[in-house]
Amino acid sequence: MLTFLWKFTVFYVCYTSGFLSNYVTFEDEANIPAIAKYFNTKGRYEEVNPYLREDILAVNRSILQPPSAECRQIHLTAIIRHGTRYPTTKNIKEMQQLYNIVLHNASGEQSWLHELQTQWRMWYTEDMDGRLVQKGVNELKHLAVRLSKLFPSLISEEKLRGGFIKFITSSKHRCVNSTLSFKAGLTELWDIKGMTMIIMMGPLCIACCSLLPVAFLCADVEFDHAVNDALMRFFDKCTRFVEEVDNNPSAVTEVEKFKEGPEMRRVQQKIADILNVPYSSITYDVAEAAFYLCAYEFAIRSVKSPWCELFDEDDAKVIEYASDLREFWKRGYGHDINSKASCILFHDVFSRMDKTATQNKLGQQVTEAVTVQVGHADTLLPLLTLLGFFNDSEPLTSTNYAAQAHRSFRTSHMLPYAANLLLVLSDCGGGDLRLQPLLNEKPVTFPGLTDRSSMPLYRDVLEHYKDLLQGCDFETECQLFKQPAEV
Ligand SMILES: *[C@@H]1O[C@H](CO)[C@@H](O)[C@H](O)[C@H]1NC(C)=O
Ligand SMILES: *[C@@H]1O[C@H](CO)[C@@H](O)[C@H](O)[C@H]1NC(C)=O
Ligand SMILES: *[C@@H]1O[C@H](CO)[C@@H](O)[C@H](O)[C@H]1NC(C)=O
Ligand SMILES: *[C@@H]1O[C@H](CO)[C@@H](O)[C@H](O)[C@H]1NC(C)=O
Repeated sequence: MLTFLWKFTVFYVCYTSGFLSNYVTFEDEANIPAIAKYFNTKGRYEEVNPYLREDILAVNRSILQPPSAECRQIHLTAIIRHGTRYPTTKNIKEMQQLYNIVLHNASGEQSWLHELQTQWRMWYTEDMDGRLVQKGVNELKHLAVRLSKLFPSLISEEKLRGGFIKFITSSKHRCVNSTLSFKAGLTELWDIKGMTMIIMMGPLCIACCSLLPVAFLCADVEFDHAVNDALMRFFDKCTRFVEEVDNNPSAVTEVEKFKEGPEMRRVQQKIADILNVPYSSITYDVAEAAFYLCAYEFAIRSVKSPWCELFDEDDAKVIEYASDLREFWKRGYGHDINSKASCILFHDVFSRMDKTATQNKLGQQVTEAVTVQVGHADTLLPLLTLLGFFNDSEPLTSTNYAAQAHRSFRTSHMLPYAANLLLVLSDCGGGDLRLQPLLNEKPVTFPGLTDRSSMPLYRDVLEHYKDLLQGCDFETECQLFKQPAEV
């Protein structure tokens, strides 16, 4: 009984204080680094949607403009990247190297340098290894609340309790935690305490369920999620991708060339000059570590750290390009297999929408009103590429940095933490289904589709992607066609 009381208290306190702290945010513009919009996949979602800085729960319902008042949303698939995370072990080692240089070798009069040398502490430790941070937990909770405001008939308490909202996640801890956070955003919103209780108290709650009026809560509190790496980490399972791109240095020669090229060398030399150290001590990896230290300190701790002083916007654009180049050749248009690896997810999404369309046509209950799929930037980018988004007329290379200044392939815009692709299927009467795509809660149009409206007919979308729908077989695409054995 004592255990029960103790756990109940812990539960109650966590619940109450968590709710308050998550829903009150303040932000001062002056605390945003000028280079924050160039942080690639280490950028904040707020930089992509600045209106969220004022109100993190704001939604703009007028982005959904159905062609007729008759339109009724019947299904939503949300493919979501995990929230803000700690750096990986590899990043942390590079940061440590940079920190040692600044601490022991750098000299100068700048006050921020003095601050780095005397006050800043290397608080990142290798065991943090990419785990979700508290900011990431909040991001997914807030996203869940905003989506429930945007799609009130789909992301509703009734649909959640009825089991019409499905969750699928990558097995990585940051994704599982993001999925749990998204769910918590909804259960906290609707005050579904029973679920939290059953997790915290397990068998005790099951016992109490049989006695108390909360019984109905306990009966349907299992909002389970499925771990599915075949879908959410297809890039690990696609042999041809792994062999030909991921483990193949010659697949990213453009990236290496750019890192050794004049634009990048200039950035490294500027840093070395500022710190008063030999050019040779600021390698590409060290420069990148400084850039991402600024990014991590901002994303994780919401501070504009002294590390940011090492860069002006021109430098930031060069490092941003180096990273975009890498994504382009490893996950984007650089190699055909990058996007083909996502065929399995593509078919999963479309077969679910087809099933929904059929159930709707037959007047049946749509069994999967919402599907939330949580993965990685590496999950979203190949799929966006397969669908043809952000396809510039010229490929990104080591020699066309200037010409690519206005490229659409910009991971800082596409893939911040908690990035999401939303596909909303609506029934607009008379058998007309329409499909609206949104990226990071903003309307986008399917590239190449003649109908440029934000809500094209579903059958036109199917026609547009018919080659992929009829082909794009994961097993076939990902098979490694071995060269005849050498003698
Ligand atoms: C809301 O979205 C509409 C349509 O995209 C846009 O015209 C309007 O400016 C947006 N309003 C706000 C406050 O962002
Ligand atoms: C993530 O989940 C693990 C256990 O699965 C837990 O130990 C950790 O505290 C969680 N982190 C966050 C930020 O929720
Ligand atoms: C830093 O200075 C020490 C000697 O003071 C030297 O041994 C070391 O190589 C220097 N490191 C770099 C990266 O310049
Ligand atoms: C991307 O653009 C190139 C060049 O314009 C084109 O050949 C290619 O088919 C496009 N890819 C997709 C997936 O739309």
